[in-house]
Amino acid sequence: MQTSPGPDPGLVELLSFLREEENFVSGEVLAARVGLSRAGVWKRLHRLKAMGYIIEGEPRRGYRLVAAPDKLLPEEVLYRLGTKTLRGPIYHLEIAESTNDMAKVLGSQGAAEGTLIVAETQTAGRGRLGRSWLSPPGLGIYVSLLLRPPLPPNELPQITLSTAVSVVRALTRAVGVTPGIKWPNDLILKGKKLGGILTEMETESDQIRYLVVGMGLNVNNPDFSPELGGRATSLLKEEGRSFPRLTILKAWLEEFEALYLQFLARGFPEILEEWKQHSVTLGKYVAVRQGPRQIEGLAREVAADGALVLETTRGEEVRVTSGEITLESAGMSPNF
Ligand code: BTN
Repeated sequence: MQTSPGPDPGLVELLSFLREEENFVSGEVLAARVGLSRAGVWKRLHRLKAMGYIIEGEPRRGYRLVAAPDKLLPEEVLYRLGTKTLRGPIYHLEIAESTNDMAKVLGSQGAAEGTLIVAETQTAGRGRLGRSWLSPPGLGIYVSLLLRPPLPPNELPQITLSTAVSVVRALTRAVGVTPGIKWPNDLILKGKKLGGILTEMETESDQIRYLVVGMGLNVNNPDFSPELGGRATSLLKEEGRSFPRLTILKAWLEEFEALYLQFLARGFPEILEEWKQHSVTLGKYVAVRQGPRQIEGLAREVAADGALVLETTRGEEVRVTSGEITLESAGMSPNF
């Protein structure tokens, strides 16, 4: 497994300086401003170029940063990131099997809250209910965040719902697109799935030992296979332009942190109200598949613990805590 446990501080300093400076800067000035030797600057400029940064170099004038790579590199994610506590370490992988799997390994080895795994592509990305998550290189966001909330395991559904709210907030703020949420946490744009969240945890004597929040978002996917095309979409497909993955990821980390801290301080009620405002499930007739069982009914409410409350054709109330929801069209539910 090829990983990087986080940026080299000298490289981060150098990059910050180059970002702020439009003109050429000599190697000597760079060395003085960043507190490195000339050789140290030179070595890091080479490393930045190898990472995909375009750096112009001219004799006697020095160096100038022209462009950053379209990668979710730790150096880029951390630059002016507005989070207070969730700030890495960030592991960036060109290829991961599943960022959630890696986060779980790190979690079991004692990695700190805020550890973030970012992959450009996944070979075995996982979705809910044992499904796979399509993760083509450089087109989507595939990340997992490690948390250690001092909470009992039964609060996991509420954190999962809060995460969906954080994605809605982030997309609204960063790129002006507001998806809906299909219970429990599918991000829906124009009736199709734009993203999903997979939360997994390890418990220890009725406490969460660690929690992994995995988020997958289809950003610049130009198309989907015919099997998926009817159900999946991307920001690019719906809006007809490409979107900055880095800006979205940073906004998500900021919004997630705000909601996570709110959840720890004040609990779930206010977040649930916001979830409801974005729900595409409530008030609809739905079918819930739970293995071989199927329950149908009107989605009446989401309870304080995150469960979906259905009213069945017999007028009974059924609480659903897991499963796959299908939204039924009005014509398919003559019994209501
Ligand atoms: C869903 O089924 O809706 C949840 C999809 C979650 C996919 C993300 S991509 C990053 C992280 N790593 C994984 O293997 N899965 C999650």
